Amino acid sequence: MSGHGTRLLPAAPEGIAEAAALLRAGALVAFPTETVYGLGADAANDRAVAAIFAAKGRPHFNPLIVHFAGADAAFAAVRAEARAEALAARFWPGPLSLVLPRRADCRVSLLAGAGLDTLAVRVPAHPVALALLRAAGCPLAAPSANRSGEVSPTTAAHVLESLGGRIEAVLDGGACTVGVESAVLDLSGPRARLLRPGGVTHEQIEAAIGPVEMPPMQEAFLADPGGVAATATLRSPGLLLSHYAPRLPVRLGTEAVAADEALLAFGPPLAGAGACFQLSATGDLVEAAANLFAGLRALDAEGARLGLVRIAVMAVPAHGLGLAINDRLRRAAAPR
Ligand code: TXA
Ligand code: MG
Repeated sequence: MSGHGTRLLPAAPEGIAEAAALLRAGALVAFPTETVYGLGADAANDRAVAAIFAAKGRPHFNPLIVHFAGADAAFAAVRAEARAEALAARFWPGPLSLVLPRRADCRVSLLAGAGLDTLAVRVPAHPVALALLRAAGCPLAAPSANRSGEVSPTTAAHVLESLGGRIEAVLDGGACTVGVESAVLDLSGPRARLLRPGGVTHEQIEAAIGPVEMPPMQEAFLADPGGVAATATLRSPGLLLSHYAPRLPVRLGTEAVAADEALLAFGPPLAGAGACFQLSATGDLVEAAANLFAGLRALDAEGARLGLVRIAVMAVPAHGLGLAINDRLRRAAAPR
C-alpha cells in the first residue's frame, strides 16, 4: 500500500494526537466515520477548507458537512429548534446530518457552507472520529475522502488509492460499518426535507418528527435510478441546492473598472473602482478560493453602503481550483 508521501497513522492515542495536531496546523487528514472515510480540515480555517476542494479536484464548491464532538458544540454554530433537538437526542452520534441556519457568531468558514446561510452539521458515531474531534478541539469539515467522481471510501486503503500524495495523513480505523453516507435533512424551512437518503432512514426520521418531504428530483431518483431526471441529479449534485448570490449584479472578465463598481480582484488590482476586495494579491488559487465568499459578501455590503451599481470581477484562470471559483462566479453572474 503506497501512500506517496501520505502518512498512515494508527487509530491509537499517539496516532490520534498526531492527526489532531496536523489538523490544528491547517493540514488535511482523512479519518474514519461509521458511514465512510471523511477528508477532514479545521472547519474554521478558510485555507484548509479550500485545500479540501483542491485535493478532491471538485469542479465546483459543494457545501460540506461539518462534524462536531457533541450536539452542544453543533448547536453553538447553528440554530436548532424542536425538531432538530428531538432528532439529535434520538440519532446522534450517528449517520444523520442536519441543515440549519448559521448563527451570527458562527466561526465556521463560509467556504465550508459554499456561502449559504445554512450549514449541514453532524455528530459521527465512530469512536475514532469522536476521539479525533475532541483532541483537535475544533469542528471538522469533511466530505467523503475520495477524488471527485469516485465512490466513497470505506477503508484507509481506498483513501490512499484515491488521495495518496495529495493529503497529509490517513487515520486508519479499519472498515466503516454503515458504508453509505449520512442522511442529509434540511430543517432550515418550515417543512423538513430529505435532501439525501442515508444511514438514518426516511421512516426513522418521520417516526421522530412527523412528515418529511422529498424534493421532486430525489423522488425521481428513488423511483427510477437510471432515468433522465435521476441522471441529471447525479451529473449536477449542486442542482438541488439554492446557491448564495450577491444582491448586486455581477460582471465577469473585467479588464477596466468604473468608479461606480466594486472590484473583486485577482492578482494586482485594476485602478479606479469604488471599492476593492483582493481574492489573492499574488494570484494564488487556494488563497482566492478561501476568500471568495467573504469577498462577495464584503463587496455586496460595501456596494450597498456606497451606492455602487455592480460587482466587477477580474478573470481567474480556468485550471485547478480556478474551475470551481469560475463555476461559482458564473452562478453569481447568471441573470435572476
Ligand atoms: O456520511 C457522510 O455524510 C460523510 C462523512 C464523511 O461524514 N460525508 C459526506 O460529505 O458524504 P459530502 O461532502 O460528500 O456530502 C455532503 C452532502 C452533499 O450532498 C451536500 O450537497 C449536502 O451534504 N449539504 C451540505 N451542506 C448543505 C447545506 N447547507 N444545504 C444543503 N445541502 C447541504
Ligand atoms: Mg461524496
